[in-house]
Amino acid sequence: MRQTEAAGSDRQFFLGTILVIICLSVFSVKAEDAYRYYTWTVTNGTIYPLGVPQQGILINGQFPGPTIECVTNENIVVNVINKLDEPFLITWNGIKQRRTSWQDGLLGTNCPIPPNTNWTYKFQAKDQIGTFSYFPSTKLHRAAGGFGGFNIAQRSVISIPYPKPDGEFTLLVGDWYKTDHKVLRRMLDLGNTSLPLPDGLLINGISNGSVFTGEPGKSYKFRVTNVGIETSINFRIQGHALKLIEVEGSHTLQDTYQSLDVHVGQSVAVLVTLNNGPSKDYFIVASTRFTKPILTTTAYLRYAGSTAQASGPLPTGPTYHIHWSMKQARTIRLNLTANAARPNPQGSFHYGTIKISRSIVLVNTQAKINGKLRYAVNGISYLDPATPLKLADWFNISGVFSLNTIKYGQTSGLPTLGTPVIGTTFHDFIEIVFQNTETKIQSWHLDGYSFYVVG
Ligand SMILES: *[C@@H]1O[C@H](CO)[C@@H](O)[C@H](O)[C@H]1NC(C)=O
Ligand SMILES: *[C@@H]1O[C@H](CO)[C@@H](O)[C@H](O)[C@H]1NC(C)=O
Ligand SMILES: *[C@@H]1O[C@H](CO)[C@@H](O)[C@H](O)[C@H]1NC(C)=O
Ligand SMILES: *[C@@H]1O[C@H](CO)[C@@H](O)[C@H](O)[C@H]1NC(C)=O
Ligand SMILES: *[C@@H]1O[C@H](CO)[C@@H](O)[C@H](O)[C@H]1NC(C)=O
Ligand SMILES: *[C@@H]1O[C@H](CO)[C@@H](O)[C@H](O)[C@H]1NC(C)=O
Repeated sequence: MRQTEAAGSDRQFFLGTILVIICLSVFSVKAEDAYRYYTWTVTNGTIYPLGVPQQGILINGQFPGPTIECVTNENIVVNVINKLDEPFLITWNGIKQRRTSWQDGLLGTNCPIPPNTNWTYKFQAKDQIGTFSYFPSTKLHRAAGGFGGFNIAQRSVISIPYPKPDGEFTLLVGDWYKTDHKVLRRMLDLGNTSLPLPDGLLINGISNGSVFTGEPGKSYKFRVTNVGIETSINFRIQGHALKLIEVEGSHTLQDTYQSLDVHVGQSVAVLVTLNNGPSKDYFIVASTRFTKPILTTTAYLRYAGSTAQASGPLPTGPTYHIHWSMKQARTIRLNLTANAARPNPQGSFHYGTIKISRSIVLVNTQAKINGKLRYAVNGISYLDPATPLKLADWFNISGVFSLNTIKYGQTSGLPTLGTPVIGTTFHDFIEIVFQNTETKIQSWHLDGYSFYVVG
């Protein structure tokens, strides 16, 4: 495998989003749903995640940012004050926002917050229970920080298909560069087709130092998100099995794994029982997938009262094996009769029998256009218009985007620049097929809707 095959790219940074504009009925906020208010000041500060000083993006002085813990149906109000010298935009992952989908924090629907300005995001944590994250959406800011956990618990009237854990931990795992994000950005802009190999992996902003303490015999929920820029990771805990209970807001059939691949942007939740005998520390390991060399970082699972340091060889995980990863992904099946913030939100458990009304094939390519590395989908490289797509759509402003002009499967020739939008119809049951013709892993951010991975 060549070095370039090692790196993946998070398409939400480089590709631009093809927006599927879907008309939904307007829901009103119910008075009884609680509000949670946050004021977040985003600053630039010196951090030392790999032992050397560098400028990071802090939220209220923290790297990573604070974790939002909320309950389904709560209204979240976050006043974000941008003290960086660049516009800043936050994506709230995991919010299937109906009324407020324009607040999702992606170009096209939301404008970045200019320096020394504030903007208040308001949305409702609706219809999904689970493990999510928020992160900066533009300018490779995520390579500098500004991300955090976003956990949505079930309301008391909703049951979950596993016993209540005795505690829970949020683990934000990601690749990390000692290089400033502005320098990384310039490398890509100058036409480099990939970023260099990351300098390391971090767990909650540090390497080889985080400690998670639990009581012997008890069970804990570990929420694991890959907050990195481009590298898939494998996660495992020495001497402990991982019972997978949830992936991005969908409860799963609860299979047990020795290790789990978590790709960029993905979140999983596992139950871990501290039943491995004596009170000691055990290694928690995250290692890179598909890279040469493999980068590894550790943290510690500490049994309360532990008197012994973690010891022995680190548990091994898969390295380059792409097929292993695909095979594992196919073993993850959703429990369609469990998990919903309200029962049966989609109106059917029988997904396999619903007629697919539309199949959308998206083929990604990359090319140098005007000396810049650009990604394209179906032959069009997305240009962010001055007027956000949602506003253009709402106010019927013509000439901002081109509707349904995209040609499916088109990959030959140099991509053209454009602002394509695919229109769909309410109640369509859509299948989206992604075709990656390149030698790198691609991860896509499907925003605003809850998708089921079928193959
Ligand atoms: C962070 O601060 C440094 C030093 O003042 C500055 O050069 C850099 O542009 C700042 N970055 C951001 C994103 O504000
Ligand atoms: C900016 O912050 C102030 C208070 O700090 C608040 O009153 C105002 O509504 C905020 N503006 C926006 C656009 O969010
Ligand atoms: C392109 O990437 C290579 C390998 O990471 C690096 O050595 C080189 O300096 C980069 N070029 C630019 C223009 O940043
Ligand atoms: C953390 O530990 C791993 C595994 O021992 C090692 O490969 C890595 O270099 C360490 N990272 C740092 C920053 O010390
Ligand atoms: C699926 O969810 C239902 C409803 O909560 C639960 O009764 C059932 O045990 C779950 N199945 C599995 C395999 O977890
Ligand atoms: C946009 O056009 C639609 C359909 O013609 C119309 O129903 C709607 O009121 C228009 N919106 C505005 C803000 O003018």
